Amino acid sequence: MERKTRMILALDVSDREEALKIAEDVSEFVDAIKVGYPLVLATGLEIIRELAEFAPIIADFKVADIPNTNRLICKQVFEAGADAVIVQGFTGRDSLDACIEVASEYRRDVFVVSEMSHPGGAEFLQPVGEAIARMASEAGAFGLVAPATRPERVKKIRKIIGDKLTIISPGVGAQGGRASDVIAAGADWVIVGRSIYKAELPKEAASEIAAEIEAELRGE
Ligand code: XMP
Repeated sequence: MERKTRMILALDVSDREEALKIAEDVSEFVDAIKVGYPLVLATGLEIIRELAEFAPIIADFKVADIPNTNRLICKQVFEAGADAVIVQGFTGRDSLDACIEVASEYRRDVFVVSEMSHPGGAEFLQPVGEAIARMASEAGAFGLVAPATRPERVKKIRKIIGDKLTIISPGVGAQGGRASDVIAAGADWVIVGRSIYKAELPKEAASEIAAEIEAELRGE
């Protein structure tokens, strides 16, 4: 995945036409499109290949099972055309290794959730987030998912993993995080959903966030 605009669209709509229209509209402002259960359950797995025309696709299935099942899930995800998959880290090293093995067979990427962006993410996951980040680094994951709602945590996790892994960070806009703060804290990409796909003019909304990131990177 190339780091250009540093933004990923979370496309959590449930209508195929709407999804394709938004993807086309905002493609110049995003480096990837994240597709998850809302869209795939509503429209089918084929939507991944259709959207891949506009940007690389990250399949957000938060895979969290035993190694064999994880292997079967990841195989389906990559066969469907996804460039990367998001998996949970709390299931342990063997489950993560299974995902990374399949991803390397397909030459695709794995992102590991280290800590979640919503308030409940601080209840159970945050206390083990740093251990998950270290495990993901040792296992050879491509990146981590860390919360834009807590830039100080992104900073801490960046310190732990150094430059070895990338960080994608959801929670910008609707959940309260600011794109520029999270990029400054060390995220490679911010993930933005509702602030773009629910905007009256998604293209304008994406363009504004992209401009904010650009200004941060220029040091303004
Ligand atoms: P919004 O609409 O809040 O969408 O901009 C955010 C998107 O990111 C997903 N999400 C997460 N995924 N770890 C993840 O792996 C997280 O901590 C996290 N927080 C939000 C959410 O499902 C939506 O697609």
